[in-house]
Amino acid sequence: MSNTSPQRSSGPSFAEKYGPWAFIAGGSMGIGRALSLEAAARGLNVVINARGRESLAKTAAEVRARHGVEVRELAADLADPRIGELVAEATSDLQVGLFVYNATIAPIGRFLDIPLDLQLTSVQMNCATPLRLLYEFAPKMVARGRGGISLVSSTGGTQGAVTSATYNAGKAFEWILAESLWGELGDHGVDVTAMLVGPTSSPNYNAFKDTLDPELCSRADSEDLLDRMRNGLMNPAEPEEVAVSLYDGLGNGPVTWTRPLDKWITTKSLAMARDEVTVTWRRLMETSTRPPEKQAR
Ligand SMILES: NC(=O)c1ccc[n+]([C@@H]2O[C@H](COP(=O)([O-])OP(=O)(O)OC[C@H]3O[C@@H](n4cnc5c(N)ncnc54)[C@H](OP(=O)(O)O)[C@@H]3O)[C@@H](O)[C@H]2O)c1
Repeated sequence: MSNTSPQRSSGPSFAEKYGPWAFIAGGSMGIGRALSLEAAARGLNVVINARGRESLAKTAAEVRARHGVEVRELAADLADPRIGELVAEATSDLQVGLFVYNATIAPIGRFLDIPLDLQLTSVQMNCATPLRLLYEFAPKMVARGRGGISLVSSTGGTQGAVTSATYNAGKAFEWILAESLWGELGDHGVDVTAMLVGPTSSPNYNAFKDTLDPELCSRADSEDLLDRMRNGLMNPAEPEEVAVSLYDGLGNGPVTWTRPLDKWITTKSLAMARDEVTVTWRRLMETSTRPPEKQAR
């Protein structure tokens, strides 16, 4: 079906549209773990990829036990230049109908203080590797005339901000790439969406949250972008909410958000003058007493 309207066909189940296998890149912890569990809850077998074998095995066991689906573990580093071959080998006998790219590297700090190698690894993780894996999965989906793809980006990816230059730029790449493919691959029945994630709970995030200024973060009813973003930092989403929103949003448009507030922040940010929005996001970083390199993504 041609992808010219925000409404997509309804009828086939999630598993019929996006099964029988999902591949979750960065699927063992946090949002990734929730994405693995939710894909299985919707009837898909799951290939879970991550580096750490212990958390990978734990999440795989949890997915099997809770949902009775098949799970394959792929312990591989998405920054490895051979990642295309490793993924191809691990999935050659599977029909992957859902590909979610969730993992990231976020070098946080002043641009020139971050070693170039780390910046290049971030570009590899946020730009080159998703592109490489799209070449692995998308042609087969196009040939089948169905499938789903989501690149997990960030509300931070729609503007620049001090101390997260390369990360924000990488998230912008994922956003624009997914939005473009929503049009192109949508013409072949493949649903694509960029997930613009906002603040989301994790052990690392919760440690960051403890350093927020409660007074600065208390203004929930303001129309001011900075006030609302600060309030959002204080009230992060749960990873499970992100996973449900992503899968519900697949097929409903090129961009998906977890909460209405995240969509409001994106819309407001994009409507502002570039200097104004960049300064506003810079001021957001002052909301925490934690040094920038320790702040959550
Ligand atoms: N949490 C937030 O508040 C927030 C806000 C905006 C956007 N996001 C976006 O949401 C996504 C998930 O964020 P998160 O904080 O949950 O991510 P994360 O903790 O860095 O990683 C999540 C998963 O990716 C795996 N992973 C990390 N690096 C990898 C690598 N090089 N190769 C293979 N797997 C790797 C991790 O396992 P291993 O470490 O064992 O490999 C883990 O399973 C990211 O794309 C991020 O940009 C998050």
